[in-house]
Amino acid sequence: MLTFCFMAIIHVMLLTAAIWILVIEMKLFFYKEYRKYPPFVPSFGAEKKNIISNIRNVLKNSLSNMTILDPGCGTGTLLFELAKEFPNHKFVGIEWNKFAYFICRLRAKKYNNVKIYCDDMFNCDIGGADIIVCFLIEPLMKKFGQKIMRDNYKTQIIFSNTFKIPNLPLVEKIKTGKGSFFKGVYVYKL
Ligand SMILES: C[S@@+](CC[C@H](N)C(=O)[O-])C[C@H]1O[C@@H](n2cnc3c(N)ncnc32)[C@H](O)[C@@H]1O
Repeated sequence: MLTFCFMAIIHVMLLTAAIWILVIEMKLFFYKEYRKYPPFVPSFGAEKKNIISNIRNVLKNSLSNMTILDPGCGTGTLLFELAKEFPNHKFVGIEWNKFAYFICRLRAKKYNNVKIYCDDMFNCDIGGADIIVCFLIEPLMKKFGQKIMRDNYKTQIIFSNTFKIPNLPLVEKIKTGKGSFFKGVYVYKL
């Protein structure tokens, strides 16, 4: 009985996630206005793995403590795994969606090295981060690149899931998947 309930819950959760992604994809397709803002979809699959393992390598080889920032952090998918592994480094998320922020704050309670802010990233100073990681959306990338350049006094590396930041110096495009949409991670160094 317990196994049945467990399996039923898992199936409902998977179905809800699938419907959620489908609805977001349809909104992105049909509504021009919606396409201007990154929807609340977490990094997943090969891109997520790739970004996390790249940041892990940087942190392992780092001689000083670093700050890793995810502007538009959602529920913190790209932050918590590394925050647990590297307690001496600082992890910061900015999220304006109140629901995502609430979940992220709950998750952050376990960590002394994670800070989450509920704000519009364009109203925040993001220049103090050593590493910036992001998963945003095409129409925002130029504005986001300008924001990084304007604020920057410390940032060394930027990892962008799926979307190019057109006005930053690209050092590598990591091809991750064969899918038509999520298929790469862009790496920038300043
Ligand atoms: C595609 S999700 C990525 C979440 C997370 N970074 C990840 O990779 O799993 C983009 C997130 O950015 C948030 N976002 C979009 N524009 C924002 C803004 N101007 N300020 C703060 N958060 C923003 C959205 O609410 C959404 O949760």
